[in-house]
Amino acid sequence: MLTAYDYPTALILNQAEIDIILVGDTLGMVVLGYETTRDVTVTDMIHHTSAVKRGNETCLIVSDLPYQSDKTSELAVGNAKQLVSAGADAVKIEGNKTGIIRAIISEGIPVMGHVGLLPQTTDRFRVRGRKEREANQILEDAVSLELAGCFAVVLECIPNSVAKKITESLSIPAIGIGAGSSCDGQVLVTHDLIGLFDRFKPSFAKQFVNVKKEILRAVECYKFEVQQGTFPDADHSYE
Ligand code: KIV
Repeated sequence: MLTAYDYPTALILNQAEIDIILVGDTLGMVVLGYETTRDVTVTDMIHHTSAVKRGNETCLIVSDLPYQSDKTSELAVGNAKQLVSAGADAVKIEGNKTGIIRAIISEGIPVMGHVGLLPQTTDRFRVRGRKEREANQILEDAVSLELAGCFAVVLECIPNSVAKKITESLSIPAIGIGAGSSCDGQVLVTHDLIGLFDRFKPSFAKQFVNVKKEILRAVECYKFEVQQGTFPDADHSYE
């Protein structure tokens, strides 16, 4: 699973045959320039889910229900329906909100759970579940999400051993981010993977390429050629 928030990225993830596109509320930080994911609105999520949908053929699209859009079951169901109308096949909810999750599933909308580090409500980005009590709580949360009917669960920022135990305890897929290699699947924020956003870099995120450097180089070359008068040349203008 990888994130996408726009049409061209959705096209690329389809071409690479990625299983799931997550229209994550990390949108707020890596695209919209907010400090946290908490400023993202349902309107933002609808806008970006529709863009992803236009570029999608084969991936399952999961869209995040943003901060406080799942405050009550009624609100969550209404918002989940709007995301589905925009193109989502399923929604993702942070935390152990089983009542709300059951309400959404009863409307025929599949739900992906999310435990461990919960960016919408955390005050500190740190590994969760190092202490036994916290690890047991995360395991309990994951199991209750499965019982509530989630079709998969994201495990964020937890030690490998804890992620392994949770993965083995669940019959639904556990998708890890900063949770080691024992999970059934992996997810990353695409902007981290391609090096497009460097203001906040989680240590678990591997940068496979530095796209920001390439874009900067292209922009500087363009500026130089315009200033020199070498662009546009005969090949890039009309007689
Ligand atoms: O919003 C998001 O991109 C996420 C991932 C970090 C799993 O929830």
